[in-house]
Amino acid sequence: MGKSSGYGKVIIFGEHFVVHGVPGIVSATDAKTDAEVNKAATGIVINDERTGSKGYAEEKKQQQIESIQRMLRAIGLPADTPMSIWIGGNLPGFSGLGASAASSVAIARAISEEFGMGLSDERVNKVAYEAEKAYAGNPSGIDNTAATYGGLLWFRKNEQDGTEIVEKITMKEPAEIIIGSTGKVANTKAMVEGVAERKKQNPARYNLLFKRAEEIALEGRKALEAGDLKKLGELMDENHTLLQGIEVSSKELDLLVDVARKQGAWGAKLTGGGGGGCMTALTPGKELQEKVALAIEKAGFQVLRTKIGAKKA
Ligand code: PMV
Repeated sequence: MGKSSGYGKVIIFGEHFVVHGVPGIVSATDAKTDAEVNKAATGIVINDERTGSKGYAEEKKQQQIESIQRMLRAIGLPADTPMSIWIGGNLPGFSGLGASAASSVAIARAISEEFGMGLSDERVNKVAYEAEKAYAGNPSGIDNTAATYGGLLWFRKNEQDGTEIVEKITMKEPAEIIIGSTGKVANTKAMVEGVAERKKQNPARYNLLFKRAEEIALEGRKALEAGDLKKLGELMDENHTLLQGIEVSSKELDLLVDVARKQGAWGAKLTGGGGGGCMTALTPGKELQEKVALAIEKAGFQVLRTKIGAKKA
């Protein structure tokens, strides 16, 4: 039996922009996806026991099968290698939390163990990137990088040659955040393609938004390193406005962002692919975190309470 796990993630700055070469900042969540792999006699059987948004498993089933086939090829095994795969863990299956990347990393590590392949983290990250293409089309790589390494990371992908810069960001003190789920399954691939299409059609307008997204990532990194949470929150708010500008927010996301701000969150934005999925809010201190979380739950939505900048995640 091979058993392993991968981290969930929350993008603090730069989702979508990061696909086009703008830096992004991502934090792993302390919640993880676990996977167990056993060699089998025939076929690939997947037993997905993750909790979270209803319909996640069904809607993403096809993409999940394709991603496992891609993964096996990237590892160097036939795409139909018989095995049984169990997926579980405490990372909710909310869309936008990097659940697909977390499961790809967990499965790749478990396959490596079960088949005695000894894959390094670097290889696991590359293999998970290949698997992510089934879910995201042209992924930046930010999700699988966070899922593999954990922590708080600066991520930049060169659009021309595909090379990546990944740097650890250190905060003096971790800060509480909440992640609210709209409960709607988002299609990241369609969202990413939509942005690329609109960017092509409105280059002048989009170039301005992309330029500001880059500045926000740079200023956001400084704020994180300096522990300037007030500035961090302001930049998150502004990042949400940019994401609305490139049309990836939704009625529900805007509503949850609004609820969080009204309850005193220091900043709030959608996180991940948008169009549904999740939002996040900066809520320093347990008390504020609980207040914001309860308000969102009272409005009928699910919430994950976590931290950014914690040593372990
Ligand atoms: O929706 P998620 O959790 O898969 O996040 C996707 C992040 C994007 O920036 C929209 C896509 C990418 O590949 O970076």
